[in-house]
Amino acid sequence: MAIREIREIGDEILTKKSKEVKEMTPRIQELINDMIETMYETNGVGLAAVQVGVLKRIVVIDCSEDGEGLHVLINPKIVETSGEQTGPEGCLSVPGKSGNVTRPNYAKVVYLDENMQPAELEGTELLARAICHECDHLDGKLYVDLVEGDLVDVRTEE
Ligand code: NI
Repeated sequence: MAIREIREIGDEILTKKSKEVKEMTPRIQELINDMIETMYETNGVGLAAVQVGVLKRIVVIDCSEDGEGLHVLINPKIVETSGEQTGPEGCLSVPGKSGNVTRPNYAKVVYLDENMQPAELEGTELLARAICHECDHLDGKLYVDLVEGDLVDVRTEE
């Protein structure tokens, strides 16, 4: 496994639409493993393949405190949403910034797992927000376009 470089806002690739994954290959499995490692290393709660420069419809998410809530979603498609939540959001591709975004408070997503088997995931609150944010990346969308009010600077650890 390896940490991959995260593409940042201004990089044209982040505005592009990612392509569906047709089959699992050793190369894609390696990409997924690297995405997981990169997400944990950078203390992110989610990462889309495009953020490491690969235009494939793959996202990894872990919103848990203990790092035990990992989800790997291939070709995810949001099929149901409800409710509304407004709160601060950030993105590894927009370092040091945060802004308020309104998202559904519930989201249900269907996807393929790492064995390319159909699966589904339901999330509320932070998980619903992460599902929506990461799926947006696959369509070339960044949260900064949804921010209500100003994008603010956040203090970073280092
Ligand atoms: Ni993001």
